[in-house]
Amino acid sequence: MSAGIHVAAGDCVFVLTGAGISAESGLPTFRDSDGLWSGHRVEDVATPEAWEANPELVWRFYSMRRRDAQRSEPNPAHHAFAALESQIGDRFFLCTQNVDDLHERAGSRNLVHMHGELFSSRCESECGAAAIADKNLYESITQIPTCSCGARIRPNIVWFGEYPLEMDRIMREIDRCSVMVVVGTSGNVHPAASFVHWANQRNLPGEAKVRTYYIGPEPPLNASAFTEVILGKAGEVLPGLFTVEA
Ligand code: APR
Repeated sequence: MSAGIHVAAGDCVFVLTGAGISAESGLPTFRDSDGLWSGHRVEDVATPEAWEANPELVWRFYSMRRRDAQRSEPNPAHHAFAALESQIGDRFFLCTQNVDDLHERAGSRNLVHMHGELFSSRCESECGAAAIADKNLYESITQIPTCSCGARIRPNIVWFGEYPLEMDRIMREIDRCSVMVVVGTSGNVHPAASFVHWANQRNLPGEAKVRTYYIGPEPPLNASAFTEVILGKAGEVLPGLFTVEA
């Protein structure tokens, strides 16, 4: 049983979430045996090469995920982070690998989606057009819209081989945090799996150590890097986990 996470008056909290935090909302994780990609090979749906080879399959896959996410609701873990942010304000920062919008719908504000957003689309070319909010489902090749430049519109998702978003801001926030809380991510995908190591490297002589916590039902690949691994489901562990000093 964990003693909980104490957030002192001067603490800055950096949160990293992965697919596990949305599992109790009914959205499958990637690498569990019933995972999202068991019916779809990753390379068939989540790479630039897949997009070139079969844009219809790629859009059908993300349309299915849009449909599933629209039917789901934030769970107590998403709400716990929104509540913590409402208590500590801009000393809270959330980086999610998830493309669903459940953190926002729970009330989180100071957050970035490093792997893109499910309800956003963008031009496949570098024409400079901004990403657009988009909840539409595209089930056939003829439904895929085109940009004013003539190129196709693709999901605003960071695929394997593409560079994660907002890395400068994320690194600044890791540099300023004194508490790191990582939830529901298997530690397979970098750079997110390295964040705990980057936080640990900040433990310079004479400075207080960054306290790092992992929360999930099983230890992640990088478990040994954390100050504490709290085993359990996010929706059961997170509510009541934080004690915030006024
Ligand atoms: N609460 C917390 N964690 C959970 C729960 C739960 N209820 N259920 C499962 N988990 C944990 C699993 O134990 C696993 O460690 O969530 C983790 C999910 O791991 P992955 O499926 O590998 O997902 P994630 O780490 O988010 O994947 C990272 O890989 O495929 C890419 O871009 C995609 O963002 C994704 C990235």
